[in-house]
Amino acid sequence: MLNKVDKIINDFLFDLENDRILNLYKEISSGKKLRAKLILKIAGDTEDACFLAAIVEMIQIASLLHDDVIDDSDTRRGRSSINAIFGNKIAIMLGDILYSKAFYELNSLPNEVSKIISNSVTKLSIGELLDVELSNKFNPDKDKYFDMIYKKTASLIEASSYAAAYIGKKDTHKFALYGKNLGLAFQIIDDILDITMDSKTLGKPALSDFKEGKTTLPYIILYEALNEEEKKKLVSFFKKMLNTEEKEWILYKMKEYNVIKKSLSIVEEFAKSALLSIKEYKNNDLEKIITDMVKREY
Ligand code: FPP
Ligand code: MG
Repeated sequence: MLNKVDKIINDFLFDLENDRILNLYKEISSGKKLRAKLILKIAGDTEDACFLAAIVEMIQIASLLHDDVIDDSDTRRGRSSINAIFGNKIAIMLGDILYSKAFYELNSLPNEVSKIISNSVTKLSIGELLDVELSNKFNPDKDKYFDMIYKKTASLIEASSYAAAYIGKKDTHKFALYGKNLGLAFQIIDDILDITMDSKTLGKPALSDFKEGKTTLPYIILYEALNEEEKKKLVSFFKKMLNTEEKEWILYKMKEYNVIKKSLSIVEEFAKSALLSIKEYKNNDLEKIITDMVKREY
């Protein structure tokens, strides 16, 4: 099924009659295609569903090309990022090409679908802006974190689920809720893995979020648990290149206060809510997407 989606993306790019774009696109490592999988599982393997899945994957790839420029990241999915290989200008323009072509193709789908998807891309961009602004200083505010990850990550997954349900003639609101909670759980897991996984498995340096200025959920939970002196110490580590001893202090304190366990129980809550909203459909594949995600290695 995903092969069909890859073929549609290649056909879209072929339409552009520019070999350079095809060659640059080949340098992007393909990811898990969570959004495409989700769309096909919800809507079924129809032509419109594959078309939507290809469009959403192109938007996702475009946003990551821009995100790696914004975050100054050299790696993506274990390979050199496009900005690292070809520079920021090429990465931004390739993102713009994928993104505008996706929007052009989106016009062929029902109005309800194109409205919901395009609106979510505005949210996604606002989420990225919030992420950048939140990284100016240590953020102890959970609500700000949840609002940012909802917009940055969950909004496109929510919209993809809604649109897929629309195409598959299912309850759009129930599936939107499923997608929203799945998206929130997904981003928190990503934020946990940055702390618990080694850099080789992660495909990027471990513990890099805090150095980049991202006060993710585990750091907010840790901050809440620390005493005043320790709080100051944690804040002083924000955005710094930490030595081994400093990194170990963070990990030790996270263990002492059960931070990862507490973060995972929030993931479980979102996962449970996601499953609850689509319970009546008894769709094992959609349930498996959630359980597989929650069981990713910590
Ligand atoms: C990854 O976050 C980034 C996103 C989920 C969204 C990025 C959105 C934009 C750049 C705006 C939209 C732009 C277009 C062209 C549609 P992260 O940095 O937390 O994750 P990472 O560790 O995978 O980099
Ligand atoms: Mg990034």
